[in-house]
Amino acid sequence: MERLQKVLARAGIASRRASEELITAGRVRVNGRVVTELGTKVDPHKDRVEVDGKRVVAEKPVYYFLHKPREMVTTLDDPEGRATIGDILRRIPERVVPVGRLDYHTSGALLVTNDGDMVDALLRPRSAVPKVYAVKFQGHLDVPELDALRNGVTLDDGYRTQKAEVFVLRQEQNHSWVQITLTEGKNRQVHRMGDAIGHRVMRLTRQSFAGLSIEGLRPGEYRELTRDELSRLKKQYLNPYRRAREASKGA
Ligand code: URA
Repeated sequence: MERLQKVLARAGIASRRASEELITAGRVRVNGRVVTELGTKVDPHKDRVEVDGKRVVAEKPVYYFLHKPREMVTTLDDPEGRATIGDILRRIPERVVPVGRLDYHTSGALLVTNDGDMVDALLRPRSAVPKVYAVKFQGHLDVPELDALRNGVTLDDGYRTQKAEVFVLRQEQNHSWVQITLTEGKNRQVHRMGDAIGHRVMRLTRQSFAGLSIEGLRPGEYRELTRDELSRLKKQYLNPYRRAREASKGA
């Protein structure tokens, strides 16, 4: 759901300010009813928005998958002047936002879209979207430590992590490469799981998100989702989310 003036501005009807004036002047209808409240929220892909009787067409929903490089923040601007994901998103014609975030030093799979429902659907905890990480830990992890990662560890704020899939990829002299699949996403979760077992995370890459792998994409590259990938995401995450939302409205 988005503010009506934002939807008008994005559709190129007028600036945000001028769009507010159109609304307060009673020239905007949503689903046939005149709306003069500036706080009104609409779903640009479902609600029928009209200005002076003419339908406003929302931007077509688009979905891109990108390989976030290391040393880049996932926000659109950074007060410290570091590289931002906006540097990549600027090359995409539509106004897309990332689904969740990766830390500054973490590289890997990041979905970006202008479909707000898809963002909400993928981020809601109930969706339990799988996220696969390749983690370089300092030192050697023994079996009880690997089991602890699998069964749940207690983070610095007292939160106990949910079950995770954990495989050793390879052990080297002073560090271990481990693949971890999480279906939740707490802040800096993998780093904090490493701290909980006493092994610092030295390098972190998200290899896949919601079953979409970064294979074939170099850091900084992106591609559109294929039709099959998109229809799977809709079936698996978006449709159940919309059904739950409709059910809660009816309750
Ligand atoms: N866990 C982390 O610690 N960092 C990330 O960026 C993602 C998961």
